[in-house]
Amino acid sequence: MSATQNFDAALFGDGPARDERFTEKRRWAECANFPNDHPLKHIEFFHRQMNEEMNGVENAAQSLADFPDADWNVRMSMARQCADEARHVEMFRRIFESRGGQLGEYPILNFQYRIIANLGDLLSRLVVQNRSFEAGGIDAVTYAIDEARKRGDQELVDLFEMQQADEITHVRFANEFVYQTIRKDPRAALQVARALTLASTAFMQVMGSEGVGSVEYLADERGRLEAGFGLEEVKAATTQAMKRRASYGSH
Ligand SMILES: [Fe+2]
Ligand SMILES: [Fe+2]
Repeated sequence: MSATQNFDAALFGDGPARDERFTEKRRWAECANFPNDHPLKHIEFFHRQMNEEMNGVENAAQSLADFPDADWNVRMSMARQCADEARHVEMFRRIFESRGGQLGEYPILNFQYRIIANLGDLLSRLVVQNRSFEAGGIDAVTYAIDEARKRGDQELVDLFEMQQADEITHVRFANEFVYQTIRKDPRAALQVARALTLASTAFMQVMGSEGVGSVEYLADERGRLEAGFGLEEVKAATTQAMKRRASYGSH
């Protein structure tokens, strides 16, 4: 999809509040996408990730506020998620600033909040946020841990490992909620499928083929199994990642 193509407005709601230090962009291509060997590559990532973690806090908090009658266990898990994601924001802010970054120095994307808080039911929100975007995060962080280790950046390895342990629990409670909901009402499977289609359509509109093609990792099968996905689902995630790479990737 080219950067000039329009967004499907129905898939995106209002953005979260940000103060005047921050500049929000709507598309991946409008961000500061440095090449891999660029000296600012990692520092820009810390800033982008810090804001993405903030979207994580905001989404979980929004769902707690919007669904007061949801099952106590899932509300407890979402409350814990708020605390975890807030800790992740702080971790990324700390490493970003300690390596010379200034808040607001790079554009940010708030597509996660715009897509997820716009969904009207908790099942769809958890499918898109935790089971889709955050599961993709598990794949990304596993790859990032290996990369940081190769560079000998132990501070970053420790940070990512801490983050990864939390993200797995976020995906797992969503998986449990989804399976329980489908067991009670098999028609919910259709809602899950609808939410996944919607998420991938909206994601594609934000990322464009350039953004999707820049992804260098496949699915982390072990991490996904630990996060409560079934074997078939894990295999499907790998196949999908390979197809994506074949269609858009440069290698
Ligand atoms: Fe997080
Ligand atoms: Fe998370």
